[in-house]
Amino acid sequence: MNPADFALDPRPIGVFDSGVGGLTVLKSLMALMPGESFVYLGDTARVPYGTKSADTVRGYSMDLARILLSKNVKMIVIACNTASVHGAKAIAEFVAPIPVIEMVAPAAAAAAAATKNNSILLMATQSTVRSAAYPAALHAINPALEISSIPTQILVALAEEGWVDGEVAENVVGRYIRSYFTTTMRPDTVILGCTHFPLLREVIARIAGDGVTLIDSGEAAARYILKNFRVRTDKSSAKTPLFFATDSVDRFAPMVERFLGHTALQGTVEQIDLMNFEIQNPSLSKAI
Ligand code: DGL
Repeated sequence: MNPADFALDPRPIGVFDSGVGGLTVLKSLMALMPGESFVYLGDTARVPYGTKSADTVRGYSMDLARILLSKNVKMIVIACNTASVHGAKAIAEFVAPIPVIEMVAPAAAAAAAATKNNSILLMATQSTVRSAAYPAALHAINPALEISSIPTQILVALAEEGWVDGEVAENVVGRYIRSYFTTTMRPDTVILGCTHFPLLREVIARIAGDGVTLIDSGEAAARYILKNFRVRTDKSSAKTPLFFATDSVDRFAPMVERFLGHTALQGTVEQIDLMNFEIQNPSLSKAI
């Protein structure tokens, strides 16, 4: 599709993540393109992805892309860094000509543009750090960048539990990153290289201290879309997003409200059966 025709296409944009982290991406997308409709899919039955092998993550990501295709989407946003690293290429080939937007390239570009002292800290899942996709993307932009990468996998569980502030979050985040900010060579830019991490943004910002820019991969990807596709920015055509989860909707529904912060959001979240996703089961849906 010609990116200029994108706004004329009434189909929704499909967004997926391993769980609730992609809601942070959806929030950025809805803010920047409020006239677009969205379908969100969280693989809550199989989260986390960040501890799993590349092949497993690729397979899971392809399942989610197939489900979104069945929802007749006009674009797929891989709102998960881990799935972006391991699944973007396969998904893009599978769903072509539907455009696929991944997280790593936009976030790396935003971080390279933000840093003044060329020192960047990457916080991401084990699998994303192991892949070295971020250092590769960053060094392709600027070979002089100094990059430290820390797998901060436990933050995914904290976000899924909704433990995003308070003593536990503070202790865990502090244990992971505090030492990087007590030296004179402290990074001035932190990449939140997992879409669950913006949920812990305030704690991370507090521990990193003044003068440190946090890069939110979902926000960077949303800006990338805004720049490269003519999207609907008028609210008149907006519809309430449709939410799907692969595990019980009882756990997922309150997270949608909590993390999107839309108290007035009137919609439903429906459970998708990964084995038989074509079959709709109204008894597995819940109003939010
Ligand atoms: N939110 C995902 C990411 O951006 C993955 C978290 C997980 O499932 O481990 O990497």
